[in-house]
Amino acid sequence: MAQFVNFLLLVSLIAFAPLCFCTKSNYGYLYPQFYDHSCPNAQQIVKSVVAKAVAKETRMAASLLRLHFHDCFVKGCDASILLDSRGSIISEKRSNPNRNSARGFEVIDDIKSALEKECPNTVSCADIMALSARDSTVLTGGPSWEVPLGRRDSKSASLSGSNSNIPAPNNTFQTILTKFKLQGLNVVDLVALSGSHTIGNSRCVSFRQRLYNQSGNGQPDSSLDQSYAAQLRARCPRSGGDQNLFFLDFVSPTKFDNSYFKLLLASKGLLNSDQVLFTKNEASMELVKKYAYNNELFFEQFAASMVKMGNISPSTGSKGEIRKYCRKINS
Ligand code: HEM
Repeated sequence: MAQFVNFLLLVSLIAFAPLCFCTKSNYGYLYPQFYDHSCPNAQQIVKSVVAKAVAKETRMAASLLRLHFHDCFVKGCDASILLDSRGSIISEKRSNPNRNSARGFEVIDDIKSALEKECPNTVSCADIMALSARDSTVLTGGPSWEVPLGRRDSKSASLSGSNSNIPAPNNTFQTILTKFKLQGLNVVDLVALSGSHTIGNSRCVSFRQRLYNQSGNGQPDSSLDQSYAAQLRARCPRSGGDQNLFFLDFVSPTKFDNSYFKLLLASKGLLNSDQVLFTKNEASMELVKKYAYNNELFFEQFAASMVKMGNISPSTGSKGEIRKYCRKINS
């Protein structure tokens, strides 16, 4: 009899085991406690390295936040953006959105090497990026949120995916929204996440067209405040100065707040992709107004949309790997 009971127990364990390990939670297959036992200090280590890097250069917070976005839009949040070109891998760092623009790779390396010392082969590069994006937001005064964890790292990169999936600053509102929808994100996510442009910089080359020849008619963008446009032209000439930097939110460039949305109301968005949020679509315009008037609402939605973005097609279980070095696959 005892043997039969044991047999029944074994059968039910096997039958229900997948439920125990693969149950989808509110966060999908990721959950914030993922490293609680395997690397209890993981979050603290990430935070302290990010804090040091941001103390050294405030802009690094913006760069790390953007890195997570550019990773998630290409094959999901799998750290594919971190891979250097090697063997059959062509790095996403070469793509149009990333070339001479994406930064923060050394900070991710520093975090990874600190984590490898504490708990080898345990914390993925993809999770490091998700945590760094949250910590960067908090360090600059933005909202905090619990980061669902357990992503695994990809063994490949996609240069073409990086070129086609990440929206460009001169894309139309519709194209940008379509690119978000392809990732399972909606207009609310688009507007809230664009609020990231409350910190960080853009190069002249990313918005020059607006200053001189918006629609191929030799005229500047009429939705751009003309005195602001004149200031921009002073350091972003018709040709040359491509790499000259400008604050995305010139009122409070290092503070994570809703001033980005207030600037859109005043026709002082820096990128065309910023200003179209307030000129081309009714739903988007309403959201911009809401966030401009209500910082708390912006913070709440931003946190929720960051969790949603961080949940784009994560590799879990036995897919992918935990890279030893974020810049290369293990074998
Ligand atoms: C909606 C479509 C978006 C477009 C077209 C866009 C485009 C751009 C461009 C062109 C730059 C300047 C790059 C350069 O000139 O080097 C930039 C910077 C930045 N973007 Fe976006 N972006 C978008 C959405 C987002 C999202 C969703 C996030 C984060 C969740 C984000 C975070 C940032 C940050 C923080 C910077 C400043 C980076 C730094 O200073 O290093 N952007 N973006």
